Amino acid sequence: MVLPEANAAYADQGYWEQRYADESGQTFDWFKSYADVQAVLDAAIGGKDRRLLNLGCGNSALAADLARAGYTAVHNIDYADSVIRDMQARHSDLPALTWETKDIFAITADAAYRERFDVALDKGTIDALVAAASKEDPWNPPQATVDRMYDYMAQIRYLLKIGGRFVHITFAQPHFRRRFCEAPGFGPVTVTELGEGWTYYLYTAERIA
Ligand SMILES: C[S@@+](CC[C@H](N)C(=O)[O-])C[C@H]1O[C@@H](n2cnc3c(N)ncnc32)[C@H](O)[C@@H]1O
Repeated sequence: MVLPEANAAYADQGYWEQRYADESGQTFDWFKSYADVQAVLDAAIGGKDRRLLNLGCGNSALAADLARAGYTAVHNIDYADSVIRDMQARHSDLPALTWETKDIFAITADAAYRERFDVALDKGTIDALVAAASKEDPWNPPQATVDRMYDYMAQIRYLLKIGGRFVHITFAQPHFRRRFCEAPGFGPVTVTELGEGWTYYLYTAERIA
């Protein structure tokens, strides 16, 4: 695995493109695998027939694990074209999975995405996006980071049906992440702690307007 010299690289499209080109054929799951969180994630998604969008899919096994568990429609996007081509080729035996090279911040410009999904899944993708601010004070993130987070949630709001859910797995503690999930158009946020030792979190928020 190619680790960046500085965390800020996790917010750089070029870093991911090169990393996945170098890791072609490999699988890596950030934070948690599906097996680790199956019961709580299944409950958060709310049904195997839900239409899912996997945001920043990377080379995680999550999509394939969901398909093998019976989920019928998982669309996977990432802005690194190298990983989308690799994952598409490796999972041609799983018709529940579709793959597309796409920047999350281009979603509101694409009418095909409007209210298309029941659930938007994010495992570690926001964490990569905000990495550029990792040298800043986490208690008072720079305005550019705050603006980017709310832009991100506006993309999620656009692609979800009313009543659809944002489901987010992260290392970020509620003090730092909850306020961003409580974005315009979303209802109350629920937080579930995952695992023992180092704690990860699962956030859910429903699109209500
Ligand atoms: C920390 S990795 C998480 C990968 C995977 N979700 C997992 O759980 O293992 C972050 C992923 O988000 C992708 N990503 C970051 N910013 C993105 C954006 N603006 N649009 C699409 N994908 C993005 C990266 O290419 C990378 O694959």
